Amino acid sequence: MSKTFETLPGTLDAVWQRLARGVADRRAPARHPVLATAGQNGGAAARVVVLRAADRANARIEVHTDTASGKIAEVTADPACALVVWDPRAQVQIRLTATASILSGADAAGRWARIPEGARTNYGGAPAPGTPLADPAEHRPGATFDRFAVLDLRIDAIETLHLGRDRHRRARFERADGFAGRWIAP
Ligand SMILES: Cc1cc2nc3c(=O)[nH]c(=O)nc-3n(C[C@H](O)[C@H](O)[C@H](O)COP(=O)(O)O)c2cc1C
Repeated sequence: MSKTFETLPGTLDAVWQRLARGVADRRAPARHPVLATAGQNGGAAARVVVLRAADRANARIEVHTDTASGKIAEVTADPACALVVWDPRAQVQIRLTATASILSGADAAGRWARIPEGARTNYGGAPAPGTPLADPAEHRPGATFDRFAVLDLRIDAIETLHLGRDRHRRARFERADGFAGRWIAP
């Protein structure tokens, strides 16, 4: 059995390897984390997103979205987010808590320039996301730079739960101490 998850440094390396793989490989488990936010009206909200960047040195990750989507209103009201990834082959759950900043306009222009034309239609379209439609065909896709936003997610804590054959191991790493890490009871 791999010893990766038997040490705290090995565990943290494994997290960042998986996040990097998620950015590079469409089939990697970390390609599609679930992003949870404090919903509007006191509720909670969660949805699948695509992981677009992972920067270990600064402990930041990136997600791209439409400025008109509900999640933008939600993180504007409360920037606290959580993301979760399940890697079934490694039998590890990765949970991230993060604080979101929204980049748009000139701050997002470099990223927009690198998005293929066809994929830009994810950002824009009318009517806005969440608007009731009498028929799905009423929606007109469109690529609109002003509707493109980068969610820049500053990771505040990383938790892992590894389901090992001998035991389950849960670790927690926090920005406050440079992600030194400690074991906690699973
Ligand atoms: C596989 C998959 C990938 C997705 N990737 C993104 C994404 O990167 N950004 C995004 O805003 N929505 C993405 N979505 C759509 C969201 O899950 C969600 O339906 C949409 O963003 C509206 O969410 P909201 O109203 O909570 O903002 C994706 C959905 C799926 C199924």
